[in-house]
Parts: sequence; C-alpha cells; structure tokens
Amino acid sequence: MRFTGTIKVNSRGHLEAGGVDVLDLAQEFGTPLYVLDEEGFRANCRAFREVFQKYGDAMVLYASKTLCCLAVCVMVEEEGLGLDVVSGGELYTALRASFPPERIYFHGNNKTPTELKMAVESSVGRVVVDNFYELEVLDRICERLGRNQEVLLRITPGIEAHTHEYIKTGQIDSKFGFTLSNGDALKAVQQVLTTRNLKLVGLHCHIGSQIFDMESYAHAAGTMMDFMAEIKENTGLELPELNLGGGFGIYYYAGDEPRSPEEWARAVMTTVQKKAGEKGLKMPRIIVEPGRAIAGPAGVTLYTIGSYKEIPGIRKYIAVDGGMTDNPRPAMYDSQYEAVIADRVQAEPNELVSVAGKCCESGDMLLWDINLPSPRPGDILVTLATGAYNYSMASNYNRIGKPAMVLVREGKAELIVRRESYDDLIRNDIIPEHLARGKVIKIAAGKK
Ligand SMILES: Cc1ncc(COP(=O)(O)O)c(C=O)c1O
Repeated sequence: MRFTGTIKVNSRGHLEAGGVDVLDLAQEFGTPLYVLDEEGFRANCRAFREVFQKYGDAMVLYASKTLCCLAVCVMVEEEGLGLDVVSGGELYTALRASFPPERIYFHGNNKTPTELKMAVESSVGRVVVDNFYELEVLDRICERLGRNQEVLLRITPGIEAHTHEYIKTGQIDSKFGFTLSNGDALKAVQQVLTTRNLKLVGLHCHIGSQIFDMESYAHAAGTMMDFMAEIKENTGLELPELNLGGGFGIYYYAGDEPRSPEEWARAVMTTVQKKAGEKGLKMPRIIVEPGRAIAGPAGVTLYTIGSYKEIPGIRKYIAVDGGMTDNPRPAMYDSQYEAVIADRVQAEPNELVSVAGKCCESGDMLLWDINLPSPRPGDILVTLATGAYNYSMASNYNRIGKPAMVLVREGKAELIVRRESYDDLIRNDIIPEHLARGKVIKIAAGKK
C-alpha cells in the first residue's frame, strides 16, 4: 500500500486527505464521493514542470482527459502548465476556467469542423493534426476565418509500449496519427507545407499509457528525432517542437514500479539531446503530456458498503453504492486498485472478498479477491489512486447520477463538482407531444 501527497493514516487510524478525515467527508458529502488532494495534485504538476525545465527548453501539458473540471483547469493554469484537450467539451471547460488559449493543444482523431472552428476562433496554441482529412478541413476553416493556425502532426512511430492492449496507441495498427513506416508521415509534412493557412511547428506522438519501461519512451523520442532529421533533409525545414505525449505509469497495485518525473525527464531529454547532436539538429522544445501521473495518485473514492453474498467455497461478494458508473476501468481494462476500510486502515486484513458495484451488469466489479479487515455494511471503503480516468470516464448507466467531487486542503473540503440529482438525470429528456398524457407529463413537469 502506498499513500502519496497528503493522503495518509491519521492518529485515529483513519484515512485522511488534505488534513480531513475521510469519514467526515463521507458524512458531510455522502458517498460515492471523489476526493482530490489539492496539494498532491499541485505537487505532481510542479514536479513534472520543474524537472523537465531543468534539462532544457520544455513545456508540460496536463492531459485534461484524465480529470477535467473548472477547478482542475484553474489549478493547472496556476501551476504554469499547458493543457491538452481532445474535444469541444474539454476546450470549453478550459476556456470557461479562463485558461490561456495559447497554452492549449487540441488533439483528437476526429475533430469535427465545429470543434476545429471553435479551436481556431478561440486562438488555441496548437492544433495537433491527426489525418489527411483533418488537414484539408482545418486549412479550409482557417481560410474562411482569415486566420493562420500553428499545427503539429501526430505521428504513429510504430512503437509498442508495455501496457494494456487497449490503451496502446503508438503501434502501427492504430486509429491515431500518420504512419511513419509507410511514408504517410512525410507526405503529411509535405502537404502541410502546401497549405495557405497552416504553419507546421512540430511533431507529436503518444505511445501508450501506464508505461513503466523507459526504453520504449526513449526509443520513441529517438525515432521521432530521426524523422525530424529526415524532414530537414527532404524539405529544408527544421522543426522547433517535439511533443512526446503522456503515458507515465503510476502505482496502483503491488508490482507497479513507477519511475519518478526526474527519471523520465533525464531519459527523455538526454536521448533527444544526444540525437540532436548526432543528426546536426538544434535541440527542439520538448513537450510532454502527463495526465495519470498528475491526477491519479491525488484522488481517492469513498463508497459505503451495503449488501453482501457468500457462496460457500467460492467467494464472498460485498457490494458498494457505486461501481462501473464512477469507475469503469476494472470492467474495461481489468484494472486493479488497492482499497482500505476508512476507519481501520491498519487493522489486520483478515477476510478475502470481492467488491461489486451496484449496476445491473455481472461485469460490474471494482475489486476481485482483496483482503480487508472484516468489512461490514455501513463501512466506508476507499479505493486508492482513482484521480485519473474515473470521473472523466463516468457514465449514467442505470440512470445512476455521477458522484460529487471535493477538493481537500489544509483541513478544509470544498465541493468542486456537485453530485448529480435525479432532476439532473432527466434534465435533457423530452416527452413529445403525442406521448404527453396524464400522469407521466405531470411528474416530468414536477406538478403535484
Ligand atoms: C495524446 C495523449 N496525450 C496524453 C495522454 C495522457 O496519458 P497519461 O494519462 O497516461 O499520461 C493521452 C492518453 O491517452 C493521450 O492520448
């Protein structure tokens, strides 16, 4: 078990975060509840920014897909990072949080014309162009708006990171980016140079997520630098920016051995420096896009244990008041987490159980085969390292409202995302005229 940031066991043997006992949080805000440790989140932002900048010209973008809401965008801005967004919704959130648009990079494999127009009109720093179709659409949009746009090209360098199959994106068979090995990447460079409104300033790649192996990352950096040299040879253009994406792994579970930001920075920056020297290129500005490594360890989720079922000789299920709706990762990726009982963190974990969610789906399991100290109905179960890809991937399956999120710091807790109410769930529902009869319409209209 590893606790990071201000998440720790207090003198009463309870879990606390930001100086607040999580039992008090459960009492005040209810469960399920996402809890974000402000100091931990900010410290992770700072750690990446400082170490990468120590080695040269570098910029760190927070990958907002990991966990995106107004308060998070404000903290990221205050910590001096840029922002990676992949949809109009993420962009809108950032802009509403007054995030400086010039520090926003807009990614995505199928940005709609409306999203591209929104990005150009709001003056985002870079659009990371993913395919030939987008190249044409973006150029046309810029033409119509009378604007120029700086772009990067997303390249698929054909490198497999050692991680879960579904979250690998650097291999050749990927929906993302221009393939390097078949010449598409070079063709794309040549094509951008013929456009009237797009200015190519660099390249991007992202080889996967939850990566521990520095070799694959360094290999990607080297491959991209080789391509930078090939571009210079073919076009005379020396690109000033290289964005190597995110993917830095974190500790979820025994056996996970994450590297420190310092180790990543050293490996990446020295590989690029070496390659630049070999190829006679200037050192480009290096950009990285950590998401999970910033938000993941800073979050925990609180649940209340409810029903249980024992199948003698097979297993004991205990169920919590959330599940795949607030954390779909175990169902999607077989992701594993560690968990504690909030008021008995250090008690002997004497009972082997599996923790089920409350959704009407057999696959809705949060934790398989975990030892916990005599879990009972009413206990607060806390899953650790849930700051990344939990809230952002949450759904309303079974019409379950998304949990609230609180930001904790120096003994105080503040709501940063409200719990969805039943009214929120029907907010966008419409009963067409021909169905609007009797009781149904009265309930929907809130009439007595
Ligand atoms: C382009 C890009 N950048 C950054 C990230 C963030 O990755 P991670 O959260 O693993 O750091 C992702 C994740 O999928 C991504 O696709």
